[in-house]
Amino acid sequence: MKPLLPEHGGPDGGPAVAHDFSTNANPLGPPPALMQAVQQADRRAYPDPHYRALRERLGHGERVLPTAGGAEGIRRLTLAALLTGRREVWVPQPGFGDYALAAQVLGLPVRPYARVDDIRPRAPPLVWLCDPCNPTGEAVERWPDLPEALVVVDQAYAPLRLHGEPPALPPGTWQLVCPNKALGLTGVRAGYLVAPGTDAVWGQALSLAPSWVLSAEGVALLTHWLDDDTQAWLAHARTTLHGWGAAQRALLAGQGWEQRTSCTPFWLARPPRGDLLPRLRERGVQLRDATSFGLPGWVRVSTQPPASQQALQLALLDIEGEDA
Ligand SMILES: Cc1ncc(COP(=O)(O)O)c(C=O)c1O
Repeated sequence: MKPLLPEHGGPDGGPAVAHDFSTNANPLGPPPALMQAVQQADRRAYPDPHYRALRERLGHGERVLPTAGGAEGIRRLTLAALLTGRREVWVPQPGFGDYALAAQVLGLPVRPYARVDDIRPRAPPLVWLCDPCNPTGEAVERWPDLPEALVVVDQAYAPLRLHGEPPALPPGTWQLVCPNKALGLTGVRAGYLVAPGTDAVWGQALSLAPSWVLSAEGVALLTHWLDDDTQAWLAHARTTLHGWGAAQRALLAGQGWEQRTSCTPFWLARPPRGDLLPRLRERGVQLRDATSFGLPGWVRVSTQPPASQQALQLALLDIEGEDA
């Protein structure tokens, strides 16, 4: 079998990137107190294999399933869905590629949808929603009314929602929480699923976890994720990102880039010309090509600090000068 490999922003095997607009990690992170806890994590001992204290801290008791990041949670829940009778997987399009990949490798039909109203199951489904969505940064307007479906809301970017409130989750919905992006700690592979109840899917997903799926550092990150000072730090970060994002949008508009609206610090943009990405990369500036999201000619840009925005602007001017 030809391996199916995901495509992501971030490290690409080339020289280190000075100004990385290609990942959605919060450039302001990590919060200092949480980082200290991660650095002080006791690596000499196994974590509690049942993560009892952590599950209590996260507030959902045994319904919490720690995962080695959101990506591992997506794979595991897709397998649990298959083993409990789900026969097709609905994924947002454009959307995070791992949902479709996880289904594909298990031979499950993938059904892309653009709008929640387009979801029309033909067999018992697993349905992924991403709120707010990667790569668009758009919020889900309403939840689907699919009482028979296994519905999961990926909340990877909920802590980075810069405006608007999500509608209350309907009962029976699974949640995927992976705060490492909002905390600027994507190197720590830690997240969790919250099951709506202790049903067959929950049992499968729990049984499929390798022992100690979450590292000591991961336990430290998740233990402090809901701390008041972490949440206060995040609120402050959102305000800063809001201001930086507005400046970055103005910069790109001034260069003739088309840009879509979003409620997150990242959004989709279309440069006025097609050959920019490798030339920016040569100049130490990386953007995420959106072709793998089904959007050739588009890029996903994340908000970066003023110095990086200036570097982007200089690189664009340099390319323009080269071509004049
Ligand atoms: C929407 C979404 N969900 C989940 C993930 C998985 O992230 P991680 O495995 O680092 O938690 C990502 C990573 O980019 C993502 O964009």
